[in-house]
Amino acid sequence: MRTIKFLSVMVMIATFFINCTHDQEIIVGPQGDPGIDGVDGVDGVDGVDFSADCRTCHSNEHRDPINEAYAISGHASGGSWARGTSASCARCHNNEGFIDIISENFIDENGFATADPDGYLISNPITCTGCHTDHRSFDFENDGNDFALRTLDPINLFIDPTVVIDIKNDSDLLGKSNTCVNCHQPRNSYAIPAGTEDYEITSSRFGPHHGPQSTLFEGVMGANIPGAIGYPGVGNTPHRQGASCTSCHMGETTNGLDGSHTWNTTANACVTCHPNGAPTEVEGYATDFETLRGLLLIEGSITDSDRTVPGIYSAAVAKATWNWRTLLEDQSDGVHNPEYAKALLKNSIEALQN
Ligand code: HEC
Ligand code: HEC
Ligand code: HEC
Ligand code: HEC
Ligand code: HEC
Ligand code: HEC
Repeated sequence: MRTIKFLSVMVMIATFFINCTHDQEIIVGPQGDPGIDGVDGVDGVDGVDFSADCRTCHSNEHRDPINEAYAISGHASGGSWARGTSASCARCHNNEGFIDIISENFIDENGFATADPDGYLISNPITCTGCHTDHRSFDFENDGNDFALRTLDPINLFIDPTVVIDIKNDSDLLGKSNTCVNCHQPRNSYAIPAGTEDYEITSSRFGPHHGPQSTLFEGVMGANIPGAIGYPGVGNTPHRQGASCTSCHMGETTNGLDGSHTWNTTANACVTCHPNGAPTEVEGYATDFETLRGLLLIEGSITDSDRTVPGIYSAAVAKATWNWRTLLEDQSDGVHNPEYAKALLKNSIEALQN
């Protein structure tokens, strides 16, 4: 089916050129000056020049390992995709909900795209055509190759639409990682504790729902308690400036089980900056994380099984609880943003110990 569609596009392109030349009367003028040399194309993954040939990407040989990688990923098989029938979960847990959001098929009262307010009868995992659709341009040399991604647009955060994340740098010139930010951001479920007033935790699931990777990476949406450790500038850390969701999680594979469409991080993505191999952990992270956990257990805001305990807490405890849950849910042990993770942990500990 794909091959047929692809061939028909090629036939269309060919016919277009044939028609053009036939419609015009051909008058041969004097020979012009030779044109200037074109610019070199950018190197693609594996050093393959993706501008060279459609078949670099559109061959079965190239696509088979991508299909295999996708099949072993949580994007294909994870249990949470069953949750996407309801309107509030579909944007991130249902292929169709995600497409509706990106296509702006439904708009809410504040002018933002929403999933179908009536919900969905079935919920499917995100597929190839959820993330990909058509190329914006075939002039890869000048416009770059967008890999036919459905969206490259910056994201107004769900939890605070006045904050925009737009991941673009040398590792991701076009903003391919913005696809990820759409889903890997906190859900709009609880206000982030701020100020000095007491704060009421209303649920045992308090915190930024499961995917705060983008906000931690950017260095926003923590409850920044003042303290001894300074907070890094927003969007201004070495990882944010020189790496991206796609470079660390979709880089060249080492053995078929990481990189590309497995979305597991690959060591190949780290060696450009960490030539002797990446550090195995963010300095002091594990110890500080456990220290903060111990303090929150004493305050009574979390349980042994890491659930939150509804109740009214001082601002400091509520903020520290939010920060600890953010780092827990992020699941990178601080790697996404070592400086921000250190500041959130150390300043939260300091606030509770005083
Ligand atoms: C850098 C990789 C890459 C190159 C080179 C590339 N494409 Fe694509 N293209 C993709 C991806 C990724 C998709 C979406 C997923 C898929 O179909 O594999 C896509 C989708 C398409 C689609 C729509 C979906 C489909 O399969 O019908 C067409 C048509 C297409 N490409 C044509 C071309 C043509 C023509 C060229 C050469 C001029 C080309 N592509 C070069 C990566 C590439
Ligand atoms: C449509 C929403 C959506 C998009 C877009 C999306 N993800 Fe995910 N991602 C999820 C969900 C939901 C899960 C959890 C799946 C499960 O285990 O139930 C997940 C899981 C993951 C995991 C854990 C993998 C595993 O195998 O358990 C990684 C890593 C990840 N995503 C990275 C990315 C990156 C990088 C991008 C961008 C290229 C991206 N995601 C785009 C929704 C999305
Ligand atoms: C803004 C996007 C977003 C929304 C909205 C969202 N989720 Fe998620 N959810 C995610 C992402 C991303 C993950 C995977 C995080 C990871 O693997 O690190 C996830 C993970 C989960 C998990 C697996 C958690 C675990 O501990 O294994 C469940 C269950 C879940 N979500 C339920 C829901 C439900 C129910 C709703 C609606 C009430 C919902 N989600 C709304 C983004 C979202
Ligand atoms: C969660 C979103 C997502 C899904 C699902 C997805 N892709 Fe991709 N794909 C991407 C992103 C992002 C890139 C760009 C990666 C980069 O810049 O290194 C990409 C790159 C590609 C490329 C070009 C780079 C390469 O390695 O050749 C091809 C071809 C491709 N995808 C095909 C597929 C196919 C086939 C499927 C289904 C089995 C699929 N994609 C599913 C997000 C996705
Ligand atoms: C500097 C490299 C780097 C960058 C950039 C990066 N990640 Fe990660 N990420 C990691 C590492 C390392 C881990 C923890 C080890 C692991 O699970 O592979 C991780 C963990 C994760 C997880 C949890 C994986 C799991 O198994 O549950 C998700 C989801 C994720 N990252 C998504 C993202 C998204 C989305 C972005 C962009 C906003 C991003 N990452 C940017 C390196 C990176
Ligand atoms: C663009 C360059 C770049 C890339 C790519 C990169 N890093 Fe880093 N990383 C740095 C720099 C610079 C530092 C030190 C400053 C800091 O803490 O952010 C660092 C710090 C770290 C730290 C914290 C060390 C500490 O002492 O606390 C860890 C852990 C880490 N990186 C892991 C990784 C992993 C894993 C990857 C690949 C998946 C990776 N990095 C990719 C530049 C990079």
